[in-house]
Amino acid sequence: MAANHDHEKDLDKIILKSPALLKYILETSCYPREHEQLKQLREATIEKYQFWSLMNVPVDEGLLLSMFLKMMNAKKTLELGVFTGYSLLSTALALPADGKITAIDPDKEAYEFGLPFFQKAGVEHKIDFFHSDAFTVLNDLISSGKEEGSFDFAFVDADKQNYLKYHELLIKLVKVGGIIAYDNTLWFGTVAEPEEMMKESYLREGRNDVIEVNNYLAADPRVELALVSIGDGLTLCRRLY
Ligand SMILES: C[S@@+](CC[C@H](N)C(=O)[O-])C[C@H]1O[C@@H](n2cnc3c(N)ncnc32)[C@H](O)[C@@H]1O
Repeated sequence: MAANHDHEKDLDKIILKSPALLKYILETSCYPREHEQLKQLREATIEKYQFWSLMNVPVDEGLLLSMFLKMMNAKKTLELGVFTGYSLLSTALALPADGKITAIDPDKEAYEFGLPFFQKAGVEHKIDFFHSDAFTVLNDLISSGKEEGSFDFAFVDADKQNYLKYHELLIKLVKVGGIIAYDNTLWFGTVAEPEEMMKESYLREGRNDVIEVNNYLAADPRVELALVSIGDGLTLCRRLY
């Protein structure tokens, strides 16, 4: 697939309202820094999944995640919503050799599509994949009695209508000072647009779910908060107590 075509796809999935500015950011500082296996995975995902390849986090967000994990010295993380694994591979590359990611998705086929890229990058051993819905695995981790307060970081990019249910479980699993990161919290920019403008139901429903999440998190005293306007919006919650 031609490189230009791939790049056009990347321009679809970002909330920045100036495509020229986004193109500048990607071409100047993101594509030249993208790990070879991430690039291969991104291009292969576009080829196979076409429109739905927009579910991969974009390159600029992947680079931010990577630097952020290293700054935190993160070692043990959770990943809710894997798809073909762009954010998972970004995380696996950023963690130390003995790092561990508990990655959860009911879509095993998409995970297996990404697996050869994780293997080629030499990071497969850091990934424990659970073919399941996130709620079950998070509850099991809590019930085990050994995992509360043990995770440095959680990346949440799964079903938006359950973000608040996940939040109550993740606030127990992530350590004080650790980070829970929620993706898509600006939902294509629709959070700032009137509901009647949303023609497609996935935009309207997602928008309403995300607005509820944003309002809840903004009022949650248990976390320090930063909503970063990168990708489709990334909310970082740092557990305070
Ligand atoms: C936006 S994609 C994740 C993209 C991924 N983070 C990346 O960068 O490539 C959302 C994923 O959430 C998964 N998902 C949906 N419901 C879920 C649930 N209840 N628990 C865990 N994952 C779920 C979907 O199967 C889908 O693969």
